[in-house]
Amino acid sequence: MFRKALVAVLFIVALAAPSIAAVQPQCQATLGNALNVANRLQAEYFDVDNGQYNGGSLWTDANTLEDLHNLMLATGTDQYGAVANASFIGRSALNPNTNWQSLLGGSNDDAGWVVLSLWKMADYKANRGLDNSAFLNAASQIYNIIAGQWDNTCGGGVWWSTAHTYKNAVTNELFLLLSASGYLRNRDPTYLANAQKTWEWISNSGMRNSQGLFNDGLDSSTSVCKNNGQTTWTYNQGVIASGLAALYVATGSTNATLLDQAEITLDATIAHLTAGTNILKESCDDALSGGPVCNQDQQIFKGIWTKHLQYYLDMAGSARVAKYSAFLGSQTSAVFHFGTNANADVGSVWYAPNQGGSVFTPKTSASGLAAHVAAAKYGPC
Ligand SMILES: *[C@@H]1O[C@H](CO)[C@@H](O)[C@H](O)[C@H]1NC(C)=O
Ligand SMILES: *[C@@H]1O[C@H](CO)[C@@H](O)[C@H](O)[C@H]1NC(C)=O
Repeated sequence: MFRKALVAVLFIVALAAPSIAAVQPQCQATLGNALNVANRLQAEYFDVDNGQYNGGSLWTDANTLEDLHNLMLATGTDQYGAVANASFIGRSALNPNTNWQSLLGGSNDDAGWVVLSLWKMADYKANRGLDNSAFLNAASQIYNIIAGQWDNTCGGGVWWSTAHTYKNAVTNELFLLLSASGYLRNRDPTYLANAQKTWEWISNSGMRNSQGLFNDGLDSSTSVCKNNGQTTWTYNQGVIASGLAALYVATGSTNATLLDQAEITLDATIAHLTAGTNILKESCDDALSGGPVCNQDQQIFKGIWTKHLQYYLDMAGSARVAKYSAFLGSQTSAVFHFGTNANADVGSVWYAPNQGGSVFTPKTSASGLAAHVAAAKYGPC
């Protein structure tokens, strides 16, 4: 029954996408679904005493807070207006004695997610006329920590961690995005130079395979670093796109090749990392209960892909929206019809009915929330 309903929705979606894309209103019905998920997420998982999500981790909490503020910027409400200051990340930003180096524990990808979270909370505060300086200061300190992790092993790139054992896709995609979008905030030419050199390095690194998808990272055990062939996680196919679109805008919105490069990977995601009725499927997702289950990190990846497609479209311009609108509509529809239980918790599996095989955690709910928020902006209504 659910499957039939979804097919009908998708059919309408596909027909309606081009005309709706030109207008780009926030879809109130989709925002309503997002708010239901967010309310449940905050009530069920957010611990006001320590400012963390029960069952979360630093980097997934960073994404969850980003999603929550992305939602408030979309709705115009201040429903979760106290959360930024109350969150562990926000408290740490407000405390001038925070030692970010030790708080981040040497993890340069976590650091990148925390910067994105601080910037989104800062944008929310600025939008509501509130002082955001502590959040921006913290973000800039953390950015400098990541930038210091660049060296010439494998010809460049920042290390995944301060242990200097691995150069991988996500840490460098994040550094590209932070550098290009940071430049759009502060016009510091060092940021722009970092963005340029990072894309040049990524594009020559071999981390993108013949399908157009990024594998996890590089094997540096031999003298020439090469693609390690590890899993093509969905999030790696999204963050590259937002980073390239930010570089496109940072360099004057004239070099469409940067957008075309982003779309090679976005389109490969849709071609290769989906199942059922064109719904994102992480390789570890399995609709059969008792089958394999994505781990605590992997549970949030699909939502990150949708969020970074939103950021891509924010910067790539309206002419690029129509191509992805129906797909975002399919994701929000699947999250709602297939992935969500009666309590408004979103499970890990989106592509099969009745939350098939899903686990339910703050990460899986945040992932579904991001899919709704992205579709409210760029999907059909
Ligand atoms: C958050 O903390 C800042 C700094 O202490 C304060 O100015 C602000 O009023 C607080 N509340 C909100 C909602 O930003
Ligand atoms: C546009 O971007 C592509 C891809 O990185 C690059 O190869 C090319 O040199 C750029 N063109 C200009 C005019 O900067």
